[in-house]
Amino acid sequence: MRKLSRRRFLTTTAGAGATALVLPWRNVLGANDSVRLGFIGVGGRGSYSADWFKKLPDVRVAALCDADAKHLDDCHKKFPGAKTQIDLRRVIDDKDVDAVVISTCNHWHALAAVWACQAGKDVYVEKPISNNVWEGRKIVEAARSIAQQVKLGELDPADITEQVFAQHLYTRNIPDPDLLIRTSGEMRISNFLLWQISYAELLVTPTLWPDFRKPQFYAALEEYNRRHRRFGGL
Ligand SMILES: NC(=O)c1ccc[n+]([C@@H]2O[C@H](COP(=O)([O-])OP(=O)(O)OC[C@H]3O[C@@H](n4cnc5c(N)ncnc54)[C@H](O)[C@@H]3O)[C@@H](O)[C@H]2O)c1
Repeated sequence: MRKLSRRRFLTTTAGAGATALVLPWRNVLGANDSVRLGFIGVGGRGSYSADWFKKLPDVRVAALCDADAKHLDDCHKKFPGAKTQIDLRRVIDDKDVDAVVISTCNHWHALAAVWACQAGKDVYVEKPISNNVWEGRKIVEAARSIAQQVKLGELDPADITEQVFAQHLYTRNIPDPDLLIRTSGEMRISNFLLWQISYAELLVTPTLWPDFRKPQFYAALEEYNRRHRRFGGL
């Protein structure tokens, strides 16, 4: 098994767009100068990712895995040279696979990623990495901390304002975002900065990550500039 000198955790979130555990590819090049990728979950996103990764010169689509035979067959037609599996553990155990791309439904992400890491594979895992409700929990924690201050007589309930609440959040010293760019195509926030984006402009881009690059970013800023922000006014 090839060992990496380091791993890098990248959060590409032009607004919770995607999350990936990414490796420095050059360190895993095999004897044939290609990274052999196994795709676990080849529904909409996994199949799209395989197309995108295939465009990289040093990548080979080595294995495809899906519990749904139709999705597996459809993707295999595009990559007939790849092995097919219905059990993701077979891909993780496969010595001919250097790294895996996990695009199953959410509840499998964490376990599949942990198993793959334990097997020495490098991992790209779609967001969400886990099924937590972190942002929601932060709001509950803020409410508890305010309640504690009230209980101790340090704060009058009448003095609880939006600003006080914001000061109890982990983002207290960071300005609220003006624009949230969603690059996943999904029309929802998915628990991201729930409180902080109350007045942010939301933009769901037609170009999805990873094709969302500098030109698309500039276009998003131009779109933002064209918008009239009323902050609740008429
Ligand atoms: N990063 C982004 O911008 C982005 C965009 C879209 C989707 N996603 C994420 O990608 C993931 C997949 O989304 P999708 O729209 O492709 O869903 P999908 O339902 O089309 O595909 C998921 C596939 O995983 C397969 N699968 C589920 N459990 C499996 C298992 N244990 N072993 C093997 N295969 C399994 C399913 O059969 C299905 O084919 C989701 O977690 C989603 O949040 C990310």
